[in-house]
Amino acid sequence: MLGGERIEGSVRVDAAKNAVLPILAASMLADGEVTLRRCPDIRDVHAMTGILEKLGCESAWQGDDLTLKNTRLHNWEMPDDLFKQIRSSIFLLGPILGRLRRATVTYPGGCEIGLRPIDLHLKGLRALGVRIVDADGILYCDGRDMRAGDVYFDYPSVGATENVMMAAALLDGVTTLHNAAREPEIEDLERFINRMGGKVRGAGTQLIEVEGVKRLHGVAYTPIPDRIAAGTLLCAAAVTGGEIRLENVRPVDLVPIGAKLGEMGCRISEEGDAMILEAPKRLNAFTRLQTQPHPGFPTDMQPQMLAVSCIAKGTSVIEENVFENRFTQVGSLTQMGANVRVSGRMAVVQGVEQLHGMRVAARDLRGGAALVLAGLCAHGETVVENAEFIDRGYARLEDTLCALGAKVERVTI
Ligand code: EPZ
Repeated sequence: MLGGERIEGSVRVDAAKNAVLPILAASMLADGEVTLRRCPDIRDVHAMTGILEKLGCESAWQGDDLTLKNTRLHNWEMPDDLFKQIRSSIFLLGPILGRLRRATVTYPGGCEIGLRPIDLHLKGLRALGVRIVDADGILYCDGRDMRAGDVYFDYPSVGATENVMMAAALLDGVTTLHNAAREPEIEDLERFINRMGGKVRGAGTQLIEVEGVKRLHGVAYTPIPDRIAAGTLLCAAAVTGGEIRLENVRPVDLVPIGAKLGEMGCRISEEGDAMILEAPKRLNAFTRLQTQPHPGFPTDMQPQMLAVSCIAKGTSVIEENVFENRFTQVGSLTQMGANVRVSGRMAVVQGVEQLHGMRVAARDLRGGAALVLAGLCAHGETVVENAEFIDRGYARLEDTLCALGAKVERVTI
């Protein structure tokens, strides 16, 4: 990409990757056809549907609507190679147990941003009476004696909350989740399960109740818009002194991101399900950013905000409290001329006037998006290698940015 072009224009935001993935898993609970409308065409969605097909489900795309049929769901043994393909496959454990009462899975493994343990998932499922034996890294799960009960999460894990919600949806009785995660994507999962005939209440708060039902039926459902993809596009306008109008957003989900960009001097306004950002010529540093579970600042937007702060006037302090290694792109940003000092969970960014283009390499999804943002404002050409990481969560990001005035192209090297 060639930096220096202003981002300007209007774009419609896709459905949220982190809502669609658990909802795809939950579709296994339905005794009938599930259609997800306006599903994002991203690698993680294709990986997840690939796994569902291995378990006996059928999937078919019609435009950007994705239909799933799980009438032939029979296999509870998760193929190891597929299970390790994407971490979100762990979300399948709850629905498989909820539907088939048996499951054999391996540990999904860590990634660049952290070890990504699943102890809270397993502890939650054991609290529902699932017997889990770990034999050489293979988890044999026996849910034949599963029963509704109380689950307490030591940490409000998004995935563990979603897994237990799904495992409990067909369990006779009421399961209560204490210290549950409160992300908007969890509220969306509740809405989806209830549209299938489930009885879940309290999502969005730390206390969720799941009243089990006998059967869940098929449904057509439109997942919520992607607040992280939206925030990334707001950052693209901010970092290029541009102006952007996002259609199909939920402003309430963007409050923390809008607040930080507002601190930097951006003018932000809302019009129904649209959000408009006008950036100043030069951004001011935000003083401090701390990632926290929702409703705190989302960790998935931290790398992007760090990139934006590199050219802001002043010093920005960033504290990453959710993942242990989420400054993976700092080395590349430094090569581009950024002044960033990392110590443990803290990064201190002294803003510079200008970054210069370089060949850099993405190491994870949001770190890759951050490098694209840096390339948009850098002087000269930037090449971001390993674009497949970015494709995990953004559908053809280069096309979206070009339509907004950037000079970006996908090249095969
Ligand atoms: C979800 O991951 C999202 N992924 C992540 O988005 C997001 O960063 C994260 O929630 C936090 O918001 C999807 O929804 C598909 P967690 P998840 O369980 O469920 C620790 C992106 O870029 N933990 O809330 O894995 C864990 O190590 C991705 O779109 C345990 O210790 O997040 C981490 O430090 C990245 N034991 C913290 O909790 C467990 O059993 C938060 O993890 C589970 C988690």
